[in-house]
Amino acid sequence: MFRVTTHSPEETERVGAVLAQALELGDVVAVRGELGTGKTVLIRGACEALGVRGRVTSPTFTIGHRYAADPDVAHLDLYRFESLSPAEWADIEPLFDGTVAFVEWPDVGEAFLPTPCAVVTLRHVDRETREIELARADARFYRALTTVADEASSDT
Ligand SMILES: Nc1ncnc2c1ncn2[C@@H]1O[C@H](COP(=O)(O)OP(=O)(O)OP(=O)(O)O)[C@@H](O)[C@H]1O
Ligand SMILES: [Mg+2]
Repeated sequence: MFRVTTHSPEETERVGAVLAQALELGDVVAVRGELGTGKTVLIRGACEALGVRGRVTSPTFTIGHRYAADPDVAHLDLYRFESLSPAEWADIEPLFDGTVAFVEWPDVGEAFLPTPCAVVTLRHVDRETREIELARADARFYRALTTVADEASSDT
C-alpha cells in the first residue's frame, strides 16, 4: 500500500499523470472514494498525460467515455448503478477493448470488471487536501508514485 497527500486539484492531477506513465494497454484502474474527493480530477490528469485532447468530464449520466489517445482511454462511472445486469455489462464491455480504463465507483461492477491493475482510493482531509491511497497495484505503479510522494511532501 502507498499513500500520498495532495493540497490542490493540480497536485491530484499530477498523481494521475504519474500513474498514467506506468499504464499499459488493457489495464483497468479502479478509482474509489466518496463524492467530490477528486476521482475525476485524478483521471483528468491521467488522460492529459496519455494525450487525450479536450475536456475530461464526469460520465455520470452516460455509461462511459472513450477518448482517442495513445492508447485510447476509457472513463467509466458506475455511480448510478445499484447493480449491473449482464445486459448492462454487455453495453459496457467494449470500452475495455483496446484501452486503458478508469472506473469510478467500481465496487458495483466487481463481478464483471477485469481485475484492476491498481486500486486508487481518495479521501477528504479538508477542503483542499486529499489523501490518495494506492493498493492492490502492480510494482510498476509503486515505483512511479515514489517520485510524487517525495515531491508532494517537499511542497509543504
Ligand atoms: N487536493 C484536491 N484534489 C482533488 N480535488 C480537489 C482537491 N482540493 C479540492 N478539490 C476539488 O474537489 C472536487 C473534486 O471533484 P471530482 O469531480 O473530481 O470528484 P469525484 O470524486 O469525481 O466525485 P463524484 O463521485 O461526484 O464523481 C473539485 O471541485 C476539485 O476542485
Ligand atoms: Mg467523478
